[in-house]
Amino acid sequence: MAAKKLLILPGDGIGVETMAQVRRIIDWLAKKRQIEFDVSEALIGGAAYDATGTPLPAETLAAAKAADAILLGAVGGPKWDNLPFHLKPERGALLPLRKELELFANLRPAVVFDALLDASTLKPEVISGLDIMIVRELTGGLYFGEPRGIETLPDGQRRGFNTLTYTTSEIQRIGRVAFDLARKRNKRLCSVDKHNVLDCTVLWREEMIKLQQAEYPDVELTHMYVDNCAMQLVRNPKQFDVMVTENMFGDILSDCASMLTGSLGMLPSASLGAVRADGGRPALYEPIHGSAPDIAGKDIANPLATILSFSMCLRYSFDMAAEADLIENAVKAVLKGGLRTADIMQPGKAKVSTTVMGEAIVREMEKLA
Ligand code: IPM
Ligand code: MG
Repeated sequence: MAAKKLLILPGDGIGVETMAQVRRIIDWLAKKRQIEFDVSEALIGGAAYDATGTPLPAETLAAAKAADAILLGAVGGPKWDNLPFHLKPERGALLPLRKELELFANLRPAVVFDALLDASTLKPEVISGLDIMIVRELTGGLYFGEPRGIETLPDGQRRGFNTLTYTTSEIQRIGRVAFDLARKRNKRLCSVDKHNVLDCTVLWREEMIKLQQAEYPDVELTHMYVDNCAMQLVRNPKQFDVMVTENMFGDILSDCASMLTGSLGMLPSASLGAVRADGGRPALYEPIHGSAPDIAGKDIANPLATILSFSMCLRYSFDMAAEADLIENAVKAVLKGGLRTADIMQPGKAKVSTTVMGEAIVREMEKLA
């Protein structure tokens, strides 16, 4: 069997350092498990802009389209904040990459690690054992709807506008991803909308109900307004299993959910496209955190979200559940053993660098294997 093509896009800031730790794991898998990936690396974001004048070079996009899976570090930083909108790393690289590969399903788990229970600002009993999955639609909705822009009116005023739009097929395809996930978990799906105000989400709710009745009678479907959902996430997050929602609602709710865990530096994500005729599926994995320019280059960033993104990649793209489990168990064991990067440091624990954390994970994998 040909080796799976894995494209690594370290990007900017701490993305470079955290990705170096994933490389250790890839090397270990090759040496100890004879699992060889066809690994290549390309530029994206500010680093790509500096080298080529564009944040998403054609070469990078072509490599992304050819890959079986993509692992992304992070993009952006103050150095590129004053570039025109379309050249900024986020707007010029991340969003077009999602759109070009049609990565419409964004999976954002929020899981509380026992060892980090005290890292959250919420009471331990509210979050202990928390394990929810937010499914965010990623290539439609308010982020991409047309018309959009800024125009000058006859009276000289300016008017800015974006459009919230979804077609039935867009709603159905994200709905199916969420229902399928719920089916593999606790069989409960909460669809989040603003049905009392926005026409587009009236359609959203109708389509979710139809889908449940036609294809997923075994999954319990509930609905919640997005404002109430933000409140419920903080009040009693364990009421949720899987949630599915519009692009921008999901952007906001997933930041909220990630902070329940107290450790943004711990959370991975997956962005998936449609399954192709050959069974493959475009997929991009990345940590939820950004490029953290303030701590970049100091070897103090937490590499665990990037490492866990790689484990999601093994699980969802490469069907390697055993290896994914091994990585996740190693992360849990290392945390239990008391090692912490600065962002999750707690009294009585040992503060370690990015590199030492990466080495510790590999050592633990060796032990557990
Ligand atoms: C995210 C980020 C991006 C988004 C930004 C960087 C464009 O906030 O992935 O959640 O808004 O989708
Ligand atoms: Mg966001």
